[in-house]
Amino acid sequence: MKVGIDKLHFATSHLYVDMAELATARQAEPDKYLIGIGQSKMAVIPPSQDAVTLAANAAAPMLTAADIAAIDLLVVGTESGIDNSKASAIYVAKLLGLDRRVRTIEMKEACYAATAGVQLAQDHVRVHPDKKALVIGSDVARYGLNTPGEPTQGGGAVAMLISADPKVLALGTESSLLSEDVMDFWRPLYHTEALVDGKYSSNIYIDYFQDVFKNYLQTTQTSPEALTALVFHLPYTKMGLKALRSVLPLVGANQQAQWLAHFEHARQLNRQVGNLYTGSLYLSLLSQLLTDPQLQPGNQLGLFSYGSGAEGEFYTGVIQPDCQAGLDQGLPQRLARRRRVSVAEYEALFSHQLQWRADDQSVSYADDPHRFVLTGQKDEQRQYLDRQG
Ligand code: CAA
Repeated sequence: MKVGIDKLHFATSHLYVDMAELATARQAEPDKYLIGIGQSKMAVIPPSQDAVTLAANAAAPMLTAADIAAIDLLVVGTESGIDNSKASAIYVAKLLGLDRRVRTIEMKEACYAATAGVQLAQDHVRVHPDKKALVIGSDVARYGLNTPGEPTQGGGAVAMLISADPKVLALGTESSLLSEDVMDFWRPLYHTEALVDGKYSSNIYIDYFQDVFKNYLQTTQTSPEALTALVFHLPYTKMGLKALRSVLPLVGANQQAQWLAHFEHARQLNRQVGNLYTGSLYLSLLSQLLTDPQLQPGNQLGLFSYGSGAEGEFYTGVIQPDCQAGLDQGLPQRLARRRRVSVAEYEALFSHQLQWRADDQSVSYADDPHRFVLTGQKDEQRQYLDRQG
């Protein structure tokens, strides 16, 4: 039985900052951000969006009534949690109108957690093939103004419907995993921005990729040439390119050229959004499938998921004949329609998030066009609005 991704959809903010303009404001060469980091635009997440609203905005447009009736597992992977106890998935389930008899959980392991959700979901559907699972990676990536990590911020959510006989990608049952205690990136409970050892984290990422990739090839007796393209977690798009370059010596010149050409499509949409932590690998998958005319049904893709702290996983999936019908076809146009904000406006939005305090607060949301918005906090409870509700 084939099990895998049946639908794949993305949501981010309606605002972005131009990376050349940000570089100039930070006294950096624009090419450092555009080429050295590999980002052209960075999503600016307004105070009216958080991990919950981004997740609901990603999932709602792709779900039919039949999907909603079949979903009995919802996993939200996030490292931008809004409560130390209650799962963001509970809020998301309510906003989406899921049935009460659904298992709702939030998963955390930095940028890796959505992959844990995908694997849990595929195991669940293999046991219950008449059911569907919804897995969402949703985050706001924040390092702070004027920090080295600043050009690698961003945010958004990717929603994946996991089912039997999937339209998009049939997932392999084998994968290669690695997890160890590594202090490359973390966020203590009292911090709103991540702490990171940037260069170290980039080196660990490559070490983990090489380890799980080679281990996968060896344990499954797979030839690297069997993989048409490699898709990466992309904290910034140059990171994936560095990882890809590190394994090029494993294949011949033709395959090297093919992998490099496919990679340009895989990073096309991420280049316009920035990091989205848990959803990043899956936005890259969406980018690969939406923008790469050389891919065909039957092609096998390798997927590398990385979460600092650290955990890595390499697994594969095969493109299905009806792939395009399961994808978020309107995404490139939506990204093109976003409003560009100045660096000053981005800085103001960055600093005016809902505060981690007990008092009642309200958030300005009139300019936010999304269906689900955060309107504030009342009696220590976050207030969400469904404009269609
Ligand atoms: N033209 C072209 N390239 C230029 C340039 C110019 N004018 N000026 C500089 N560059 C290049 C540099 O040569 C460098 O390229 P290489 O990495 O290929 O050598 C690149 O631009 C970046 O320059 P620096 O190394 O000087 O940049 P930096 O020290 O300011 O910071 C960073 C870069 C470490 C990635 C920083 O942005 C950071 O800390 N980011 C957050 C951490 C991160 O994303 N880590 C990734 C792995 S962890 C992970 O994946 C989990 C997650 O999501 C966080």
